[in-house]
Amino acid sequence: MTAEYKVHGNVAVITLNNPPVNGLGLATRRGITDGLAQANADAAVQAIVITGGGKAFSGGADIREFGSPKALAEPNLLSVIAAVEASDKPVVAALHSVAMGGGLELALGCHYRIAAPGTSIALPEVKLGLVPGAGGTVRLPRALGVEAALNMIVSGEPVKSEMLAQLPGQKLFDKLSASPESLADEALALAREVADKRPLPKVRDLPAKHPQGDAYFKFARNMVAGMAKNFPAPLKCVDVVENATKHSFAEALRLEREVFINLMWTPECIALRHLFVAERATSKIADVPEDTPKRTIAKVAVIGAGTMGGGISMNFLSAGIPVTILEMKQEALDRGVATIRKNYEAQVKKGKLKQDKYEERMALLTTTLAYEDIGSADLVIEAVFEEMGVKQKVFEALDKVMKPGAILASNTSTLDVNQIASFTKRPQDVVGLHFFSPANVMKLLEVVRGAQTAKDVMATVMALAKKIKKTAVVSGVCDGFIGNRMIEQYSRQAGFLLDEGCTPQQVDKAVEKFGFAMGPFRMGDLAGNDIGWAIRKRRAVEKPGLKYSASADKLCDLGRYGQKTGAGWYDYQPGKRDAIPSPVVTALIEEHRKALGITARKISDEEIVQRLVFSLVNEAGHILEEGIAARASDIDMVYLTGYGFPIHRGGPMLYADQFGLFNVVQAMKRFQKNPMDDAKFWEPAPLLAKLAAESKTFN
Ligand code: NAI
Repeated sequence: MTAEYKVHGNVAVITLNNPPVNGLGLATRRGITDGLAQANADAAVQAIVITGGGKAFSGGADIREFGSPKALAEPNLLSVIAAVEASDKPVVAALHSVAMGGGLELALGCHYRIAAPGTSIALPEVKLGLVPGAGGTVRLPRALGVEAALNMIVSGEPVKSEMLAQLPGQKLFDKLSASPESLADEALALAREVADKRPLPKVRDLPAKHPQGDAYFKFARNMVAGMAKNFPAPLKCVDVVENATKHSFAEALRLEREVFINLMWTPECIALRHLFVAERATSKIADVPEDTPKRTIAKVAVIGAGTMGGGISMNFLSAGIPVTILEMKQEALDRGVATIRKNYEAQVKKGKLKQDKYEERMALLTTTLAYEDIGSADLVIEAVFEEMGVKQKVFEALDKVMKPGAILASNTSTLDVNQIASFTKRPQDVVGLHFFSPANVMKLLEVVRGAQTAKDVMATVMALAKKIKKTAVVSGVCDGFIGNRMIEQYSRQAGFLLDEGCTPQQVDKAVEKFGFAMGPFRMGDLAGNDIGWAIRKRRAVEKPGLKYSASADKLCDLGRYGQKTGAGWYDYQPGKRDAIPSPVVTALIEEHRKALGITARKISDEEIVQRLVFSLVNEAGHILEEGIAARASDIDMVYLTGYGFPIHRGGPMLYADQFGLFNVVQAMKRFQKNPMDDAKFWEPAPLLAKLAAESKTFN
């Protein structure tokens, strides 16, 4: 039983007990209804208190039940709340810490509510692509007022109990307790005080009206449409709250349920629920149990004060961890520190960072030119030039000076972490920490596990990633790791599309319509086309015969590296970032096509998107099979947090799953016939072929 029942004099107390946050799983729901029945049958009991044990009143639905029949099994949450509301004896909800989603809906079904100060109150369902589904949209407007309720329902953001208690006319809380500690006693006292009072007050009996009615909802819809972008749920939140003001309680409740169930199986809701689960799964490493001892990281050193070194340092400074940056020359240090200052000052100017916090952070930063000064750091992250020879010198020096047990990390984006580890006598302490640019902003961190990386090093860096607010995904060692290895295929496809008949703007538009923030060519111009050029030159030596469109090389031959040179796939006006289609590029592509003897054909947006996205998927199939990534959802997280893959699509793997892997394989077979494409690449990865044949999915 995951709810406890105890009688204190004339009051029965039902305490939810389903750690960590008293999710309202089936057993907990049964615990509540059983407790209610027992209390109502006991003549000595005159009132009932429902509260939560441990860290929460209730965080809402039990995510472990997502998608399982248990989630809907009786008593479902609606039935539980109906039973609470129908109780003959008054029911008092005693809220503390967290009362969210179904937890708040349960409290709204109680006759009285007392909350501890500091309780986080929310209906966060919209964040999972849903509307609240157990009366939240019908009762909260009655208890709190229509506008305040709609704001909470549309944003899903938590609000503190003491803030809500101040709203004029609110009926959400009958009382705030003096402190969290006194809540239990005060709840008992309230229960005794109301034990004899009849009729029992019910939120459902309160009116839900907005003085401006239609005009208000029209305004709300305009506001919400702007921010909802690709997601249907926020506008549905407005609909259901409006229903609460226009229909009877029972009819509004029925409509809420209908909307909830219709949203549940939209691709957007599936994507958001996938993201929620995927995010929590990334930190789990099969052979590194959660109780693996961790090393203490109290001091960090960073080698190199360039683009990445500076951004990486900021993560730790912002988390209150002292950093020492080492460089070859004082000028490089000065430049690096100035950039860090500039970035923080921009945050201060925007009001995102307080002046004193900024100064506190900068006080944690020291610089040096001497390796001896960093020997006592617990973690050192190397971010020097991407050349094995340079990395070798750095790691040999680190091996000499770093204290035993220090973690030695490299931010390399392409080099072999095992080889880097071999430059030291402590390969077990070496790991890849692949940050993404700008490193102080981007959420993604690929943690590259070397062949010999110790388990406690993995446990330590995964925990550290959380502390610096990164989404860490473990990758095995291979060229490009998970993210860049896949993006290389995507870039190759983008090139073939030009050869066969597309313009850069057509490709970018199709991809942006699909939901990417930027198409491949605008992205290339932003990052610098010379980066890909350098990789292709290396590939020509490493993998001769690997096919690329030559148009990108021809572009670089003209010095069109992108925004930084004022011209790339597009033209740019000085000081501006607007991509202007370029006649020079059009001519270049057409000439190249002519040289290849190709007649341009019209390529649909659908084909553009499929070729680009399925190229990611096929490479990911190999990555999974080789064990470079532990699970398909990790790959989705890499693309959602590091590569701007549209959130509402849930990542390339979920997208492929929803498209149907059989259909994905069929599409690949069609692409094999394209004249300029790489037929060998489109051979479906064995894992993909197998799953498709068995009608299975990646996730
Ligand atoms: P950068 O050229 O901006 O900075 C490198 C810095 O390292 C320079 O300030 C240089 O003076 C310093 N340095 C070079 N050799 C050194 C040595 N022996 N000792 C001390 N300092 C030394 O390069 P960036 O872009 O910051 O890249 C650094 C590393 O991060 C590379 O391995 C790169 O592949 C990787 N990376 C880069 C990303 C990017 O978008 N720029 C993204 C992810 C990883």
